[in-house]
Amino acid sequence: MRKITLQTPSMAGTIYIGNDAIAARLPSLTAGQKNFVLTDSNVYALYADWFKTYFPNTELFVLPAGETHKNFHSLYEILEKMTQAGLRRTSRLFAVGGGVVGDIGGLAAALYMRGISCVQIPTTLLAQVDSSVGGKTAVDLGGVKNVVGAFYQPCEVLIDPTFLATLPKREIKCGVGEIVKYAALNAEILRLLEERVDALSDLEFLTTLVEACVRHKARVVEADERESGERKSLNVGHTTGHAIELTSGLSHGESVLYGMLFETRMAIAAGVCECAYGERLIRLVQRALALTPQTEPDFSEIGKHAKKARSDKKNAEDGKIRMAVAKTEGEWAQFALPFDEYKTALLKAVKDGK
Ligand code: NAD
Ligand code: GLY
Repeated sequence: MRKITLQTPSMAGTIYIGNDAIAARLPSLTAGQKNFVLTDSNVYALYADWFKTYFPNTELFVLPAGETHKNFHSLYEILEKMTQAGLRRTSRLFAVGGGVVGDIGGLAAALYMRGISCVQIPTTLLAQVDSSVGGKTAVDLGGVKNVVGAFYQPCEVLIDPTFLATLPKREIKCGVGEIVKYAALNAEILRLLEERVDALSDLEFLTTLVEACVRHKARVVEADERESGERKSLNVGHTTGHAIELTSGLSHGESVLYGMLFETRMAIAAGVCECAYGERLIRLVQRALALTPQTEPDFSEIGKHAKKARSDKKNAEDGKIRMAVAKTEGEWAQFALPFDEYKTALLKAVKDGK
């Protein structure tokens, strides 16, 4: 089992990675107080016995699976159930699932009695490499992604790669969406992924990738928990990615892959990203997109995507669309375009094809 500590001004947390992480940590984390477990319907269907083993007699809330349930209504229901269960300040909330469960569960933990301990147990590749670490919690509202949320660090993150064995290939690809983001920022992850992006059924290799991404993220979050500087780098591909996610119905990870593709092209055209490095990233994104067969999303109404990018919470009041892009190995930059220029650049990037 690997152990990574994450110390921010607000809280200290520990991340454990390994197929022994849960057996080693859960018994002591669950003992001695009332707790609350949140999961989603798919995870519960697959792991009902696992829940019985590790959470006997614990209040369990099963959220219907999917991003559309990451909303205020679900948050209200979860908080109501936590209150009815009589949780105390010493209680813990365990979020067992993908990024949807982790984000809404983290926010419920932050709000209940002004904050109870949260333990993240991520079960998707995306959640293991990214969303369970770093304390961003949120729900979507009014068609805007993650617009209501809080920075609230989990006290522990227990990452067991064996959960990935039941993950459909398309969900593995979604996780690769976030791993490509780390690859754009970290030479070691780029090398690992370029060598073996087609070998993602190998759990040992996935574990190596998960650990490398989590170490990278932990360093960035320690330096800048509240995203006033370095943490913005973790939004590579995300401005356009979020807009695509909200307008196309694609998953978060797949949308981030398209976001990376188009934003990298825009950054090369604007001279912000070094051409050879950008082309290298584009080739990697294209290999990731080809991991599962999929119909090309409808990008014909580009104005619709561009308009959504306008509501992204990373934008400031000057009306510019703000993106984080890779410049060259180990370097990134902020890149902002006025809305009309963004729309034209996006149209060109999409025309250049997948
Ligand atoms: P998800 O939570 O919807 O999970 C994807 C699908 O996989 C769901 O259908 C789920 O039921 C299923 N699933 C989960 N574990 C499984 C398993 N072990 N076996 C089989 N099926 C399983 O989506 P996601 O891709 O994990 O996360 C996306 C969400 O994460 C988005 O809401 C995004 O905004 C958020 N996110 C948050 C952060 C952060 O820093 N907080 C970072 C990146 C993404
Ligand atoms: N997923 C980006 C971040 O945590 O900052």
